[in-house]
Amino acid sequence: MLSQKTIDIVKSTAPILETEGTKITTCFYKMMFEAHPELLNIFNHVNQKQGRQQTALANTVYAAAKYIDQLEVIVPVVTQISHKHRGLGIKPEHYPIVGEFLLKAIKEVLGDAATDEIINAWAEAYGVIAQAFIDVEKGMYDAAANQENGWVDFKDFTVVKKEQESNVITSFYLQPKDGSGVTTYEPGQYLTIRVKIPGEEYTLNRQYSLSCAPGHDYYRISVKKEKDFDPNGKVSNYLHDHVNEGDTVEVSAPSGIFTLNMEETAPIALISGGVGLTPMMSMLETLADTGSKREIYFIHAARNEEFHAFKDDVEEITARLENGHAYYGYEKPLNANGDHHFEGYLSKSFLENIINEETITYICGPVPFLKNAVRILTELGVKDENIRYEFFGPAMDLKAEEKETVKA
Ligand SMILES: Cc1cc2nc3c(=O)[nH]c(=O)nc-3n(C[C@H](O)[C@H](O)[C@H](O)COP(=O)(O)OP(=O)(O)OC[C@H]3O[C@@H](n4cnc5c(N)ncnc54)[C@H](O)[C@@H]3O)c2cc1C
Ligand code: HEM
Repeated sequence: MLSQKTIDIVKSTAPILETEGTKITTCFYKMMFEAHPELLNIFNHVNQKQGRQQTALANTVYAAAKYIDQLEVIVPVVTQISHKHRGLGIKPEHYPIVGEFLLKAIKEVLGDAATDEIINAWAEAYGVIAQAFIDVEKGMYDAAANQENGWVDFKDFTVVKKEQESNVITSFYLQPKDGSGVTTYEPGQYLTIRVKIPGEEYTLNRQYSLSCAPGHDYYRISVKKEKDFDPNGKVSNYLHDHVNEGDTVEVSAPSGIFTLNMEETAPIALISGGVGLTPMMSMLETLADTGSKREIYFIHAARNEEFHAFKDDVEEITARLENGHAYYGYEKPLNANGDHHFEGYLSKSFLENIINEETITYICGPVPFLKNAVRILTELGVKDENIRYEFFGPAMDLKAEEKETVKA
């Protein structure tokens, strides 16, 4: 239990984190990696370079400080992060390291303003926040290990099939190397894959959504080759170019909170851009496998016909549904007279014919695609809690951003 004095100090200094948060977390990571380079085996170096991880951490520490006396408010955020932590194998012994360098970074950035009293209050508060994460994660580790075919941390999986889905997306079918079965999972969840690429100093971890329904004797992930960039994406290119049938990758058990709620009966729209269709494939197939009678709309935007993955599969699955409908469109179609349903970006005029205020929407795609979709759905009156989205990177609160924009 924190004393009232500690709570008051933390809450009164929390606004500093809102303004200086990213400066503090940038300094934090720099100092922590200098002292503990082994942690570079866990962290995504690109998220660091792009600053997304620093911002995500700063926002969370700020929220935790603001609600230090009612941490239940941030439980959904903690749960989402803890899923990622569990997939990556973050353990209780890591927390004191983060605590030590977070406090050092606060001191470094705030200088004399960070009095001993403030630092001590923050140290105490960090202990409470860290314990909340550790407790949630313990439950997740136990659940992952104790389920049927469950395991702890990473385990070797064999690529039993590799299949091209579009000119940039390839699926990998994975089975445990030890001959055991795969665990079940919730449609929308992701695997964490760990690879050691020859010539790379550290192991690299990446998340990939499961792209088929649970219930098969394999996991399937579908990976977009991040090419034509400088530099090209490390893991996706390695998987495409060097990981073949018979090869091994390390996998940790499925995690994630972007999942299909099977209890609901309202119309549902699965909206995706590019490779963001992977969790939607799992959700769509699950709805079909369970004989759902809901109105189901699968809406997909691709760059053009050559980038369009799973076209035939989606048609086959929607045909199995009593009320399934599939729509797709291309930013720049190769065939202007083709059978696509929209051209250019996904627009309000297209969606308003499909979506109403009761529709439950799941969205996944690149950040600009997500922002556009969230804005349109908000304008169409879809309830906040029915706009559910997944990021293929550190999470952000787009609905809050949307509200800020409307206010401004
Ligand atoms: C929950 C979740 C689910 C996901 N599901 C999928 C999925 O189903 N399918 C899928 O394909 N992906 C998915 N992803 C994304 C995936 O985890 C990887 O991020 C993606 O494959 C890119 O990894 P990479 O190693 O190839 O690229 P990285 O090496 O991580 O590079 C990513 C991008 O950053 C750029 N970059 C690299 N270095 C720098 C630098 N120094 N400065 C600026 N930019 C740089 C690269 O050019 C590249 O475009 C998911 C991510 C999350 C979080
Ligand atoms: C209370 C302490 C902590 C907080 C508030 C916190 C917060 C966060 C946040 C906000 C994210 C981003 C989640 C997302 O991707 O959406 C994240 C991811 C992550 N965290 Fe933590 N974290 C804490 C402790 C730790 C510890 C102790 C470690 C291990 C040393 C750790 C390692 C990671 C890693 C590796 C990621 C993935 C980031 C990436 O993609 O590189 N975290 N954490």
